[in-house]
Amino acid sequence: MEIKKVGVVGCGLMGQGITEVAARSGYDVVVCEVKRELLDKGLEAVKGSLSQAEARNKITPEEARATLSRISGATSPDAFGECDIVVEAVVENLGVKKDVFQSLDKCCPPHAILASNTSAISIIDMARVTRRPDKVIGLHFMNPVPVMKLCEMVVSIITSQETARDARHFVESLGKMVVTAKDTPGFIINRLLVPYIFDAIRMLESGLASKEDIDKSMQFGLNHPMGPLTLVDLTGLDTARNIGEAMYRETRDARYYPPVLLQKMVAAGWLGRKTGKGFYDYR
Ligand SMILES: NC(=O)c1ccc[n+]([C@@H]2O[C@H](COP(=O)([O-])OP(=O)(O)OC[C@H]3O[C@@H](n4cnc5c(N)ncnc54)[C@H](O)[C@@H]3O)[C@@H](O)[C@H]2O)c1
Repeated sequence: MEIKKVGVVGCGLMGQGITEVAARSGYDVVVCEVKRELLDKGLEAVKGSLSQAEARNKITPEEARATLSRISGATSPDAFGECDIVVEAVVENLGVKKDVFQSLDKCCPPHAILASNTSAISIIDMARVTRRPDKVIGLHFMNPVPVMKLCEMVVSIITSQETARDARHFVESLGKMVVTAKDTPGFIINRLLVPYIFDAIRMLESGLASKEDIDKSMQFGLNHPMGPLTLVDLTGLDTARNIGEAMYRETRDARYYPPVLLQKMVAAGWLGRKTGKGFYDYR
């Protein structure tokens, strides 16, 4: 199948990145948000990211302008009527994602692939609310999407080989490398990452070391680009909590249970960079 038009649901952190990368790769992109204000805010962020890329000479001013001209915004999934693939990037919550997949199934052409950028939620749970479960797949892009090379492709037991092949071609056309994972809680990346981040939070919680020293240890002792607490500030503490909850629900493995400190910080609205405060202060 030839993919010409791409839909993105949600213009938050990940939706912005997927929109930008798809438009930069020459696709027409329509991105949908729940409210006009959120859509405008998301599109502003895409513009900002393109200006940064331009300032760093990664793209020319003409390329930035052409990229923006390929992006259109919407506040209803009806706008996906001509899309060949739609990537869902809404909050990490199964109920919300199921509602989105049901409406995508109604609004998208029958041939369209419906992909989820979920970090940990079971693909089959979303697939089964549609009339095209064979065309539902996980495409787990990494944050920040314009920078990170990898996309984890998650195939459920119903995903067809054609869907996997077309989705892989699409992701590769965005200049990303694909790894394939089975539809298991956390797939590859979060299966490894979530216990690591949660252990770092538990270490802080128990007073074993300061947040700065935990981060410095991993950054300068193991050459990670950043420490685990800086990383979870970037990911979003609510997203990390939701990912852990989804994994715990399926496995009942205590390693995935969100630490109390993380839950309290989410309750306080300290979600990391996106709210100006997480483990560190960004205000
Ligand atoms: N943050 C990360 O580092 C990261 C990395 C990889 C994958 N993910 C996954 O990507 C998804 C999105 O995460 P995020 O960090 O972008 O979250 P976010 O909170 O920044 O953005 C989610 C956006 O979805 C919008 N939304 C909610 N319901 C909607 C609907 N019905 N229609 C249209 N828009 C809707 C919200 O208004 C919000 O703007 C999650 O499944 C998350 O697990 C996140």
